Amino acid sequence: MLFDCRGHAVTALNQNAVDHFDNTVSLFLAHSKKTPEALGLTLAADPQMLLALIAKGFFYKMLAKVETDPVALEALFKAKLSVRERGANHRESELLTALEEWCYGNLDKAIARLDALLDDYPLDALSVKITHACQFIRGRNHGMRASTTKIMSAWNEGVRDYGFILGCHSFGLEETGAYAEAEKTGKRGVEIAPNDAWGTHAVGHVLEMSNRPSEGINWLSQYQNEWENCNNFSYHMHWHKALFHLELGQKDEVLRLYDSYIRKDHTDDFRDISNGVSLLYRLELEGVNVGNRWEEMAKLSANHVNDHSLAFADAHYLLAILSSGNTKAADAFIETMHEKAEGEGTAQEIFRNYGMPLAKAIHACKTGNDAQCVDHLLPVFDDLQQIGGSHAQRDVFHRLLIDASIRAQRYSTAKDLLDARLQQRPENPWALKRLAKIPEILETVETDEAPTQTVNRQQNIELVSLT
Ligand SMILES: [Fe+2]
Repeated sequence: MLFDCRGHAVTALNQNAVDHFDNTVSLFLAHSKKTPEALGLTLAADPQMLLALIAKGFFYKMLAKVETDPVALEALFKAKLSVRERGANHRESELLTALEEWCYGNLDKAIARLDALLDDYPLDALSVKITHACQFIRGRNHGMRASTTKIMSAWNEGVRDYGFILGCHSFGLEETGAYAEAEKTGKRGVEIAPNDAWGTHAVGHVLEMSNRPSEGINWLSQYQNEWENCNNFSYHMHWHKALFHLELGQKDEVLRLYDSYIRKDHTDDFRDISNGVSLLYRLELEGVNVGNRWEEMAKLSANHVNDHSLAFADAHYLLAILSSGNTKAADAFIETMHEKAEGEGTAQEIFRNYGMPLAKAIHACKTGNDAQCVDHLLPVFDDLQQIGGSHAQRDVFHRLLIDASIRAQRYSTAKDLLDARLQQRPENPWALKRLAKIPEILETVETDEAPTQTVNRQQNIELVSLT
């Protein structure tokens, strides 16, 4: 019987493979660019190692692209062959079933199984991180918090990778509004593991949500040498830095970070494109001319016309396509989204209930139909969490709706949205600037539904060009 570094039984050919896999898990927790290499070494030591094949399947599912799904499926089939030849213990068997459930479209079922697995194996760092990642993709912020909360008592500083687990816990706390506890937990995690980019990032989110941009820049810069070793997650860290600079009105620095890091490599990963899209859109809302920067993302996004793996990704792809002015490609994109929304499965349900209304709202907004944008987005706005991503990432759609409400002269709606935003982000300058203008206009507008002619287009332009 072989065991991993935290004492779990592992089905493998030799200890060398298990040791390589322990390293793979540590690097996965660190979002390291060396993770694939470590997984390759594991599979070189034991091509049939069940957990390594399962991890490979999950890694490729997390890419959320139709063209990488077959790689995940191949890993799944190889894993099942391995079980037939060597058998599997309970932990391995449950992880395999969860991967199979996700591969066949039922992410919700997979998440429930993964979360239950943590009751039996709270020290299984691989399961902790995979559960956390799946919950994040699925928009389960309270689930993230609950899953790490229940395992924390099993962990302590003597257990390998403890810092990374604190980082996951910090992020769940932050995404559920427990900012002070998240900051304390995240900073402790990074103290233990300075290469915990996810924990560094969780504290960055706290600073973003609590309007502390200068502190945010200092915090992220302090650990930049560490997170520069990450995979494409390093683009996301630069994105967070850029958000802080934008909050400080340093638009030239935002564009420098965009060109030098965030979209330097023109990558196709949906996370990378969502970084770029939401940053350019924010800049445009602040009146910045972003030149031809939409073009490269629009081309990559249009290639996903037959993909539609995630509603969160699609919303960003569509925003890129429309911002480049290619309405023909956007129409084709929305048509195939409709097709995806039919049928059964977690993704289809999210597309039907949230992805399509959001897509229609984006389309309306970018084609000058602000009232329609509000009508599509407002009914699902409170549940937009369901498409996944973080509060900071979805904020681009909040801004889109608020500014569309103002342009459509739906001032009561805009005011309600801004009030809600200020409850979540007290003293948020972006919201305060917009809110300060609305009462003057409300005096001349009787209702949301019947805007008077006393509010002209120029006033609306001024409202949405606030900096
Ligand atoms: Fe983030």
